[in-house]
Amino acid sequence: MRVLVLHSHPLDESYGRALYRQTCESLEKAGHEVDGCNLYAEGFDPVLSARDRSIYHTYPDNTDLVKPYVERLRQAEALVIVTPVWNFGFPAMLKGYFDRVWLPGVSFRLEDGRLTPTLRHIRKLSAVMTYGATPMRAFLAGNPPKKIVTRVLRAQIKLGAPVKYLAHYDMNNCTEQTRAAFLERVKTEMERF
Ligand SMILES: Cc1cc2nc3c(=O)[nH]c(=O)nc-3n(C[C@H](O)[C@H](O)[C@H](O)COP(=O)(O)O)c2cc1C
Repeated sequence: MRVLVLHSHPLDESYGRALYRQTCESLEKAGHEVDGCNLYAEGFDPVLSARDRSIYHTYPDNTDLVKPYVERLRQAEALVIVTPVWNFGFPAMLKGYFDRVWLPGVSFRLEDGRLTPTLRHIRKLSAVMTYGATPMRAFLAGNPPKKIVTRVLRAQIKLGAPVKYLAHYDMNNCTEQTRAAFLERVKTEMERF
């Protein structure tokens, strides 16, 4: 499958980047065609400007400034997100990607107030997430990033597509062993993606 891997971590030497590298490498090893999208490295601009907002509903003009990203999304048959959790959401870089690229005419059609998802060609979705919080703290906070992946994004891709949410919680108390074990889990999951 052609897999779009979205990644947002500013530091090359971070654990998050190691997870991204492992994800891409293991997917490739399994024979997938990987489109690695490291948003910081690509200098993606996540800010939805006044101009962007004013033409937000005007397809295809709304895609003018993000055309290559729209093309990559349209070519994707599967999607993997590799990101840390910041303020119980996606980092602004990744949030901005969704705001600016998953546009009317791209991820959905809006006709007479009726919304139709248009990313049904995406047949599989996975997320590789890291949290500072424990699973209990994340649960008590409502775990918004988990809901975004397993409910919001799931609803926009192929109906019934498999969705997997892999998370290393409690990074505030992680050890070399917990990091290695999660990296190994990501490797295994991506090799049989
Ligand atoms: C700006 C910022 C906000 C954060 N907010 C949260 C949060 O709301 N919940 C949480 O569980 N962890 C939070 N964290 C912790 C990160 O999730 C954690 O540092 C990261 O997953 C560790 O991965 P890394 O070493 O690859 O950066 C935050 C970290 C930063 C830098």
